[in-house]
Amino acid sequence: MKLEAEHNDEGEVTTMRKIDIPENGFEQPPEIAMPNIFPIEWRVETPKLAEIYERAKREGFNPSLIAWDQLNPEQWSRDERVAIMYWWAVLSNFDSSGPPVFARAMIRAFETHQEDPVRKCFFSITRDEAHHEECCQRVIQRLVPGGPLNFTPTTVLEKAAHNNISWLYHNGARYWKGFCRAIERYPLSILFTSFMMGEVASSSLFHGMARKTTNPVFREIFTKIGRDEARHLQICITLLEKESPRLTQEDKQFVTKQLRAGFVFLSMVLWEPPDEFWQLPPYFMPNHRVLLDIAREAGLGCLTYEEQAENWKLAMARVSRIVERWGIQFPAIPELDIKGVEVGDITAEDIIPVF
Ligand SMILES: [Fe+2]
Ligand SMILES: [Fe+2]
Repeated sequence: MKLEAEHNDEGEVTTMRKIDIPENGFEQPPEIAMPNIFPIEWRVETPKLAEIYERAKREGFNPSLIAWDQLNPEQWSRDERVAIMYWWAVLSNFDSSGPPVFARAMIRAFETHQEDPVRKCFFSITRDEAHHEECCQRVIQRLVPGGPLNFTPTTVLEKAAHNNISWLYHNGARYWKGFCRAIERYPLSILFTSFMMGEVASSSLFHGMARKTTNPVFREIFTKIGRDEARHLQICITLLEKESPRLTQEDKQFVTKQLRAGFVFLSMVLWEPPDEFWQLPPYFMPNHRVLLDIAREAGLGCLTYEEQAENWKLAMARVSRIVERWGIQFPAIPELDIKGVEVGDITAEDIIPVF
């Protein structure tokens, strides 16, 4: 036992504090069973990720500061408003799943004791995606109050849009359950590659739309979201670079399948979905095309079918070059004349990618 004296500035003893040390030394608490968020630690292995996190803090935008009052619904006809709202509701199928998907990934990163910058980067993506979701929410509710689904459609176009949106969200719900199971089953390093497909796709989508839109508010939103997505992509690439030496052959094959799953899922917003995974009624695609045509003519900025195909091809060529570095093969995408490995059918269990 030891007595510790505390002194004032003059060196006089003021209090005596007792530190209790048992004769045989301190006892250790039981070992913490993993996975667990404890013990607390702030390990840094990849300073580059810490730098990107700092940049996220500076570059992030506040959706409240966008000039929403300049997004005047009166500048469009009723059909144009519902068609533009429809595109944002399609985008929501992807962007609005960002916050819960990355929040769950962040918790998983804590539980599996990833280094601190990995957790912080996931936190920053969660926050950014909540901002992207807020943009979808504000545009939709400004153009069609109660949208995307909580309004009473009266015109034929409104009824078609409303019905298509409910089919989209039926499919979104199927992927969410698969993701919740996958997050427990697969190492985060594998999930990162699925995220990467979404980030490459979305950064190119938003940059393309920022150039094409005729509306200044949409241009500001697309530019800001595009910058966030480019940063998310950098996070994914840095994470994969770090994880790649640990990837087994089986992991790599799984990643190849995930890339095809990314194409199947994201094509709904980036091009047109292949006849796989999606459960849609036969009238869905014809009505979808009509709605997008109206939105495009109203100046939203969505690319044409051919422009989208070209854009998607470029994005995939980029992903293919990135994953090749780590000996990961690219899947066959016959829809876009891309040769590669056959991965079989994609089911709801395989879908992980988000924006
Ligand atoms: Fe996003
Ligand atoms: Fe993102």
